[in-house]
Amino acid sequence: MSYREVYGAWKSDPESFWLDMCEGIEWEKKPSKALFTKKKPFYSWFDDGLVNTCWNAVDRHVNSGRGDQPAIIYDSPVTGVKSKITYSELLIQVSKVAGALVKLGVETGDRVVIYMPMIPEAVVAMLACNRMGAIHSVVFGGFASRELAVRIDDAQPKCILSASCGIEPNRLVTYKPLLDEAINLASSKPQSCLIFQRKECSAELIVGRDFDWKETVAAAEPIDCIPLPGNHPLYILYTSGTTGQPKGVIRPSGGHLVALNWTMKNFYGVEPGEVFWAASDVGWVVGHSYICYAPLIHGNTTVLYEGKPVGTPDAGAFWRVISENKVSTLFTAPTAFRAIKRDDPDAILLKNYDMSCFKTLFLAGERADPDTLYWAERNLKVPVIDHWWQTETGWPITGNPIGIEMLPIKHGSSFVPMPGYDIQILDTEGNELPRGQLGSITVKLPLPPGNFPTLWNADQRYIESYLDEFPGYYNTGDAGYMDENGYVYIMARTDDVINVAGHRLSTGGLEEVIASHPDVAECAVIGAADKLKGQIPMGFVCLNAGSEEKKEQVIPECIKLIREKIGPVAAFKQAVVVDRLPKTRSGKILRGTMVKIANGEEFNTPATIDDPVILDEITEKLATIGYPKV
Ligand code: COA
Ligand code: AMP
Repeated sequence: MSYREVYGAWKSDPESFWLDMCEGIEWEKKPSKALFTKKKPFYSWFDDGLVNTCWNAVDRHVNSGRGDQPAIIYDSPVTGVKSKITYSELLIQVSKVAGALVKLGVETGDRVVIYMPMIPEAVVAMLACNRMGAIHSVVFGGFASRELAVRIDDAQPKCILSASCGIEPNRLVTYKPLLDEAINLASSKPQSCLIFQRKECSAELIVGRDFDWKETVAAAEPIDCIPLPGNHPLYILYTSGTTGQPKGVIRPSGGHLVALNWTMKNFYGVEPGEVFWAASDVGWVVGHSYICYAPLIHGNTTVLYEGKPVGTPDAGAFWRVISENKVSTLFTAPTAFRAIKRDDPDAILLKNYDMSCFKTLFLAGERADPDTLYWAERNLKVPVIDHWWQTETGWPITGNPIGIEMLPIKHGSSFVPMPGYDIQILDTEGNELPRGQLGSITVKLPLPPGNFPTLWNADQRYIESYLDEFPGYYNTGDAGYMDENGYVYIMARTDDVINVAGHRLSTGGLEEVIASHPDVAECAVIGAADKLKGQIPMGFVCLNAGSEEKKEQVIPECIKLIREKIGPVAAFKQAVVVDRLPKTRSGKILRGTMVKIANGEEFNTPATIDDPVILDEITEKLATIGYPKV
């Protein structure tokens, strides 16, 4: 079947399409129907089925003869460790960790926060939670204690799984003090913490609350999978919104299983048994879907890489991992390739490796600039596929479904909608725009299986953030257009979210932290274009009357504050003090104009600006930190 036929089959009968796809999953009880609309607009899928994700990702492969196949390849240049865990070994580990959770008093439906580095135990922890019915919430290691505390308060976990440290190329990240501080800050206190001691650093345990991972797991009884309803939340993953309060995206079990399984063959074009590598982190949605769940659900071998694209030790690291482990498919963010290209522009290091195993490169997480695409295509000599999705959807909205059909490549586009996504480009009034015209990218409801049915503890926020603006449609928050062949072009965000090295950040959240500095009267943060990271946050700070003499110290203090409160992942390193912020006469900050000035783009002084002179001051101030004047 061609892509058009598959998409057409879905569109003409979505329910049958997804019920057919259920066949790829082992259910304890098959769902009687696909879509449940009773709680509209909170649509859900496969509610009356019974299923367990861990069973489908681990047990069933052991039962069907894949026991000796590596499930996880752990490749850690930062520790020098390379190891493999077969499906049979994974089953033992997961059953025991699930047993340990039960012993610690965790019950079906309880939340478990996972704050761990890129070690196999992080994947084991995710699967173990699901095995015994708990809902995990993984928090990325680059977030500081306060961010972790906010998530703890929202998810209210009974137990937290963590490790003594993470390893960044330039430093050891001691997780335990960060975790202790987060628990101190949070009002909701976990009953227990299970801590994996790494040999690089030993964490101090608090007697009665903290338990040693290895000892507790060794003493635990292995347990079997618990069948769960199709709409049981598999996990909550927090993502940035317009404020500092992150949004808890819920992932429903059944739809997630069905959709991810479908993508592996039809979208990524891989067969069970092949080695699939998503070079991301388990703390992000890419890590959830394509390091942990999808490859295992589909019987692939997944690579867990604890390193960077450059500097661990060099820009040939990705090629080494691919050739040593016979990786057929790599999925990463364009930033990683920009970093490699910057360090090794002629791809000299690539010549040291046999890349004959390598079939396809997939890029997502941020806009893939055509330069990077061309560079990757020219050097790797395989198809380079941009695709677009979000934490909220959990799997690709648009892309080139190479397992069905390799569509012609159009650089700058992230290809065509996948089955399940009826994309409409709307104007501000909600009218459908003609092909080629820029507007808000929306998806006609219901969203397909695996997409978030709502936000954790925040039904109203779900409606206000995503559904209110265009009734009957999910507002993706991205702007773009669709061409005459149905190819989608993602151009910008329509909200205050910026994308730094493929990481989604809220400028509103950064502003809240800067505004808490006692000398700051008001501030604005924008995303300025950056050659490596796509965007970087740039702050504009106005001081309180009387604070002028502290001008020199306020900026470094704000930078430190962001690192302490949000974490190093914010990569907030640049800000300037200005007398006033450019605003419209009604008081709206002209962020778009500030972005243009920072990016050295031509701009028209907005007619509504209250004082155009401020734009000159901004241009001058940015010039002092190396931004060229237009
Ligand atoms: N735990 C603790 N700190 C972390 C961390 C983690 N898991 N991950 C990153 N950090 C820290 C880094 O050490 C860095 O701190 P620093 O300011 O002290 O140097 C900061 O957060 C920013 O990290 P990062 O965005 O990784 O930038 P970098 O300059 O260290 O590396 C790249 C640049 C391009 C190599 C890196 O961004 C990269 O590999 N990007 C690939 C994109 C990607 O994986 N995106 C995920 C979504 S698909
Ligand atoms: P996240 O939820 O962190 O995965 O971030 C999702 C956001 O990243 C999207 O809403 C887009 O703004 C951006 N994004 C993801 N993939 C792409 C892509 N292929 N092209 C352009 N932007 C992308």
